[in-house]
Amino acid sequence: MAKSYLVTGGTGFVGSALTRALVKAGNRVRVIDDNSRGSLRRLADLEKDFEFVEGDVRDGEGVARAIRGVESVVHLAAVNGTEFFYSKPDVVLDVGVKGMVNVIDGCIRHGVGELIVASSAEAYQTPNRVPTDETVPLSVPDPLNPRYSYGASKLVSEVMALNFGRTRFDRVIVFRPHNIYGPDMGSEHVIPQFIQRIKRLTEESDANPVSLQDPAYVGVASMVVQGRPGFVRVRTPYVRDQDVRTPGTLLSRTMTCSAYSSRPISQRSRSAGASQLGTRT
Ligand SMILES: NC(=O)c1ccc[n+]([C@@H]2O[C@H](COP(=O)([O-])OP(=O)(O)OC[C@H]3O[C@@H](n4cnc5c(N)ncnc54)[C@H](O)[C@@H]3O)[C@@H](O)[C@H]2O)c1
Repeated sequence: MAKSYLVTGGTGFVGSALTRALVKAGNRVRVIDDNSRGSLRRLADLEKDFEFVEGDVRDGEGVARAIRGVESVVHLAAVNGTEFFYSKPDVVLDVGVKGMVNVIDGCIRHGVGELIVASSAEAYQTPNRVPTDETVPLSVPDPLNPRYSYGASKLVSEVMALNFGRTRFDRVIVFRPHNIYGPDMGSEHVIPQFIQRIKRLTEESDANPVSLQDPAYVGVASMVVQGRPGFVRVRTPYVRDQDVRTPGTLLSRTMTCSAYSSRPISQRSRSAGASQLGTRT
C-alpha cells in the first residue's frame, strides 16, 4: 500500500537510491538534506515526483516541518566517510545525536508511527564474531579516539530509537549496514578508496599495470563483485602478462554492481506488546 515518507539524507548515496525506489513503487516522498555530501543531480530523472526540502537535521523546527504530514520517516542523514570521523568528530556527533533527537521529537509532535533508522556496523567496532549478528554487543572501545565518534553516534541513535519505540511509535526498525556499494557512490567510501589505492599503487609502480590474475585484484574483485568476505593484502603490483586489465576496468565493473543490505533488528507493534529485538528478514 502506498505511503508517504520523509527520507532524511535523501540526496545521498543510499538515500537517493531509496527515494527512487519508493517513488517508483508509487509512494509519496519528501527528502530533507543539506546537500553537504548529497546532490539533487542523483535524483534528476525523477523531476518533480518527489518534494525536496533543503535543511539541516540539527534544526529542530525545520525537521518538524519536514515531518508534518508523512506516515513514515527514514532517517539516513549523517556525516559519513571515515576521514571525517577523525577530522571533525564533534560535527559527526552533533549531526548524529541532534539529528536523531530532532527526528524523534518531530515524529512524536506529528504523530508519525513508523521510524526507520540507519545505524552502522561501526556500532560493533571489532566484533568478537564474523559474520556478525545482532546479538553481538555494541561498543565504544575508546572515548579518546575520534574514530569512534561515528560509531558512538549510531549507538546512541539506536538506543534512542528503540526505547522511544516502546511507547511512542507503532514500529521502529534499525538496520546496520556494513559496506554498501553501488552506482554513483562517490569516492568517500571505503570500497572506492580501496580500489583507488590499488590504482595508485599500480600507477606509482615502475612495472606495467597489474593483471587481473594478480592475487590483490582477484581478492578485491571477488570481495567486491561477488560479495565474498575476506581479507585482502594490497601490495605493489607486478607484471604477469601482456593481456592486462586496467584498474579503471575493475573500477567501472565494480561501480555497475549494487547490493543494498538492510536487516531490521527490531520490529515492534504497540498491539504486539512485547519487544521483538533480534527479528530478522
Ligand atoms: N554507505 C555505507 O556503506 C554505510 C554503511 C553503514 C552505515 N551507513 C549509514 O547509512 C546512511 C546513508 O549513508 P550513505 O552512504 O548514503 O552516506 P551519504 O553521505 O551519501 O548520505 C548521507 C546524506 O546525509 C546528508 N547530511 C549530512 N549531514 C546533514 C545534515 N546536518 N542535515 C541534513 N543532511 C545531512 C548528506 O548531504 C548526504 O546526502 C547514513 O546514516 C550512514 O551512516 C552507510
